[in-house]
Amino acid sequence: MYRIKTMNKISPKGLSRLDAARYEVSDTFENEQAILVRSAKMHDYAFPSELIAIARAGAGVNNIPLDRCAEAGIVVFNTPGANANAVKELAVCALLLASRNIVGGVEWTKEQAKAGEDVAAVVEKGKAAFAGVEIMGKTLGVVGLGAIGIQVANVAAALGMKVVGYDPFLSVRSALSLDPKVSHVQDLDTLYAASDYLSLHLPMTAETRGSINAEAYSQMKKGVRIINLARGELVNNADMKAALESGAVASYVTDFPDSEISLVPGVVPIPHLGASSEESEENCAVMAADEISDYLEHGNIVNSVNLPNLSMGWKTTARLCVISRKNPELLKDVTTMVQGITAITSNQRGDYLYILADANEISETVANQIAALDGVLRVRLLLK
Ligand SMILES: NC(=O)c1ccc[n+]([C@@H]2O[C@H](COP(=O)([O-])OP(=O)(O)OC[C@H]3O[C@@H](n4cnc5c(N)ncnc54)[C@H](O)[C@@H]3O)[C@@H](O)[C@H]2O)c1
Repeated sequence: MYRIKTMNKISPKGLSRLDAARYEVSDTFENEQAILVRSAKMHDYAFPSELIAIARAGAGVNNIPLDRCAEAGIVVFNTPGANANAVKELAVCALLLASRNIVGGVEWTKEQAKAGEDVAAVVEKGKAAFAGVEIMGKTLGVVGLGAIGIQVANVAAALGMKVVGYDPFLSVRSALSLDPKVSHVQDLDTLYAASDYLSLHLPMTAETRGSINAEAYSQMKKGVRIINLARGELVNNADMKAALESGAVASYVTDFPDSEISLVPGVVPIPHLGASSEESEENCAVMAADEISDYLEHGNIVNSVNLPNLSMGWKTTARLCVISRKNPELLKDVTTMVQGITAITSNQRGDYLYILADANEISETVANQIAALDGVLRVRLLLK
């Protein structure tokens, strides 16, 4: 039986993926082999020696000490794309919030009701103050065509918008899923110049931090509407404030509000609701549970954030899984030491190497000898 510890409430739909005949799940284990976690802080967590995998049901992993895990031979997984539909749906809402003064209108209507006004009568007189524009026929620029950006681009095209996308690292998979009506441009200047709306779906990095700033607005159409469901730090708040005041930007819908920007006229602050749907939590939990079971039972690593990803179909009765610091000799050593190998594969990531080797028989002795080699961090012998 594998012991899985839950460090947060994990959706039952995810836990149901773990066959009760092979998995015990508890939030009190002290010698667990794997952990399912959402936001619990794990930086001070003492890892039991049995622990080999942690899956974060979600995208961000800054609650987990990735380097310490890698050095201990513990694979950390996340669930990229599992919340993409939830964010896409909020992006559709954000496009409308950026276009029509829905939030202002709703607040005003409630104020009328609280003041004892005849609401049905006053709305007809007051509604003109909240008129907006339609999205149909307008151009949306999508920055970052990954799991979320692709879906946003495609749904906007289906809603009758013209869509241009920019992604300097566009994957083949993403390119193939992109609606043919969406045009991919090679530089941001072209995208900025074309867009009535801009939707950000790129990661926050040293390079992209603050990249939505005065210089960027100077290349955009006057009155552009900006949607940020990616990360708050992508946008320079001071420049955004000035651009809203001058009319360079007509509205800014952000899922990452802070005290500096939330009360600025033209800002629609959403309290980080992008991934907050029941379905998204379920999708993340299902993906996390599947990643854990594929690794525990087959040694396959899919969506790791700290060690190399590597998968191989398994036809024999024995499989050796070796996590090591990078070592150019290790693949040769494993090939020599394991007799009768039918398949072997490896992958590197940063300073680490992962090897899968299949044979019809692999002894504990050989596995222990490989575990004792220089730089080897974890060896597992899986038997069918
Ligand atoms: N609001 C929320 O609750 C919420 C939820 C999930 C994700 N997010 C955020 O949404 C963003 C996208 O998430 P995702 O799951 O689609 O990630 P992803 O990794 O699937 O896609 C990101 C894309 O951005 C591209 N990219 C990288 N650098 C770029 C650059 N300089 N310019 C343009 N494109 C660039 C990458 O090539 C990739 O295709 C991330 O910032 C993530 O943190 C927010």
